[in-house]
Amino acid sequence: MVEKGLTGWIRPKVVVVVKNNSTKKSPLYFGEGIAITHFIYSKNMAKVTLIDHPLIQHKLTLMRKVETSTAKFRVLLKEISLLLAYEVTRDFPLKYEVIKTPLAPMNAPVLAPEKKLVLVSIMRAGQGILDGMLELMPSVRVGHVGLYRDPKTLIPVEYYFKVPDDVDKRDMLVVDPMLATGNSAVAAVERLKSTNPISIRFVCLLAAPEGIEHFCAVHPDVPLYTAAIDDHLDEHGYIIPGLGDAGDRLFGTK
Ligand code: URA
Repeated sequence: MVEKGLTGWIRPKVVVVVKNNSTKKSPLYFGEGIAITHFIYSKNMAKVTLIDHPLIQHKLTLMRKVETSTAKFRVLLKEISLLLAYEVTRDFPLKYEVIKTPLAPMNAPVLAPEKKLVLVSIMRAGQGILDGMLELMPSVRVGHVGLYRDPKTLIPVEYYFKVPDDVDKRDMLVVDPMLATGNSAVAAVERLKSTNPISIRFVCLLAAPEGIEHFCAVHPDVPLYTAAIDDHLDEHGYIIPGLGDAGDRLFGTK
């Protein structure tokens, strides 16, 4: 088993360097055994967090299955998004206030009010994660980034961009289920940085090693969270084994 407290992650083989300097293959590399890895770092030391909770892994497997219906896929993505949000917000600061329970006063923890969030969905598949996270955090503000890939240049072109006016006073979670080539994520985060949020975290469901490397090389300051790292990209930029086109599966467009 791979230990917690990892200090390195190297492509092309997903190798985890554990604290005692031995090297082991990540159990999430094509699904061997039980995954308990947590923090890993790309070559340039950008922080990548593998959210490998067993419930998430189980639900993700159901999402991957070709026979899973659109309705079921939607529900699963929503459920996983709740669990992702739980992990991604784990280090949010608390303050204490005195409250009264029916039996006694107590100094009780509440979220520090200055921790204002904005969730940004990369259209269109980001909507699936957004819906789940909004259920857990109903009062957060929401932004959208729409990008398409120019078929000739393969460069992402922006067709929609809307974020709240006070985004510079907010911490930002950018969500997109699939980090494949990383081109859209890189471009979206580049654009979002220009709005000056307090911080940015990028959250996806599935990542390809190529996408992680690309994203971390361009945005080493943006922590990345993913529920799985798959094997590779195919020649069309799909994650293998992956789950297919997340947008199509979410909206039933194919
Ligand atoms: N986008 C998807 O929806 N699926 C992939 O496999 C890659 C990019």
